[in-house]
Amino acid sequence: MTERITKNMARNIYFGGGLFAILVFAGLTMDTVHQIPKLSHDDKITESVAAGKQVWEDNDCVGCHTILGEGAYYAPELGNVFERRGNSDEATFKAYLSGWMAAQPLSEPGRRKMPQFHLSDKQVNDLADFLIWTSRVKNNEWPPNIEG
Ligand code: HEC
Repeated sequence: MTERITKNMARNIYFGGGLFAILVFAGLTMDTVHQIPKLSHDDKITESVAAGKQVWEDNDCVGCHTILGEGAYYAPELGNVFERRGNSDEATFKAYLSGWMAAQPLSEPGRRKMPQFHLSDKQVNDLADFLIWTSRVKNNEWPPNIEG
């Protein structure tokens, strides 16, 4: 005896499977949306973090750098620079960043140049707070190449 799938069965598999996939997709989407506040820890956005983002935008840092994988590929990823150059310590990172910003442009031949932005101490401090906050966004270790 040969078993055949009837048209009815095929239709039920098609619609049933489709509906099942849509429900799984909707459920996972709702779960992700639900988790975003916890993953982005946006409750920790202080005035200084917001001001640092403003400095970041006003000076178009993203025109050369990536942040969390987004941006230009001319210069290193900065979403994790707090861990890479600051050893995940706030005081170490702030000292590093103000030294770095003050020292630009480096005049080593053959090295890509970063401009001097003439930022105030407060602007550099705000930038550091913004980069520290960004580094703590839980983004599943993105980007995979840590220097971008
Ligand atoms: C014109 C392109 C350009 C712009 C705009 C730019 N940078 Fe850079 N930046 C670079 C380059 C190139 C390097 C790598 C330089 C080197 O290693 O000598 C760099 C390196 C850095 C580093 C060190 C990163 C590391 O991993 O060692 C930091 C921190 C940094 N930039 C911060 C900033 C900030 C903050 C801004 C915006 C205020 C900014 N950059 C804007 C080109 C740029």
